[in-house]
Amino acid sequence: MSKIVSIHSYRGGTGKSNSTANIAAAIACKGKRVGIVDTDLPSPGVHVLFGFDEERMQRTLNDFLWRRCAIADAVYDVTSILKNRAISGSGLFLVPSSVKVNDISRVLRERYDVELLNEGFQDFIDTLKLDYLFIDTHPGLNEETLLSLTVSDIVLLVLRPDQQDFQGTAVTVDVARRLKVPKLLLLINKALMEYDFAQLKEQVEKAYDTTVSGILPESEDVIRLASNGIFCLNYPDHPISRVIETIAGQIMR
Ligand SMILES: Nc1ncnc2c1ncn2[C@@H]1O[C@H](COP(=O)(O)OP(=O)(O)OP(=O)(O)O)[C@@H](O)[C@H]1O
Ligand SMILES: [Mg+2]
Repeated sequence: MSKIVSIHSYRGGTGKSNSTANIAAAIACKGKRVGIVDTDLPSPGVHVLFGFDEERMQRTLNDFLWRRCAIADAVYDVTSILKNRAISGSGLFLVPSSVKVNDISRVLRERYDVELLNEGFQDFIDTLKLDYLFIDTHPGLNEETLLSLTVSDIVLLVLRPDQQDFQGTAVTVDVARRLKVPKLLLLINKALMEYDFAQLKEQVEKAYDTTVSGILPESEDVIRLASNGIFCLNYPDHPISRVIETIAGQIMR
């Protein structure tokens, strides 16, 4: 049975796209077939971590949503990024969103059929025989966010230790509960090293009555990589990569 995993955050820049790419890659390294869809149509980003730019993207999610192609035509096999960490069965596939100015302005102007997006998810899963489909999202709550919350088996909410994130996450947790998301997990990102991580985990778990799957520190190494690759593939022995492994394990459990 395939699983749909949505990565959300109420506010922008929390680390959704980096988390999506890293956790998806970590699961693919365990011999699973993993897909990623960039549903952040107004401000796409996850393709950058796979080394894609405008020229390299022929077909995108936009073409599918505007009924110009099948979803399979917008799928890029990015398994080679796993290099020697791929094992038998490993597969990693990406459906990027367009970064063309005209396409982004069309998305903002005309919107699109959210139901068709859901059909695309299912088709992607079936055609590529995915074990996991990761949905990277636009921050905040909007129509697509609600759709992805509705269709997800697992929702991972990314937040920073910041009062604005705390309040916004409370809203999203509430919505996810009402939509009866089967499994809800939190990921705290960009925590300062001086914090007591165990205490932070306990506080946040108590406040939201939700499991904190991991805490990632604000890291100069991540900043230095600057979305120029997938951190856990570049630095497999780094403490951050170990936290990613733990989160991947909780998603696969
Ligand atoms: N633990 C970390 N330490 C330092 N920098 C980080 C960390 N995690 C992510 N970043 C940086 O934060 C920025 C935002 O990350 P990312 O694009 O993954 O967030 P996002 O939630 O997808 O943003 P958006 O809401 O704009 O889509 C990137 O420059 C990334 O390199
Ligand atoms: Mg993003």
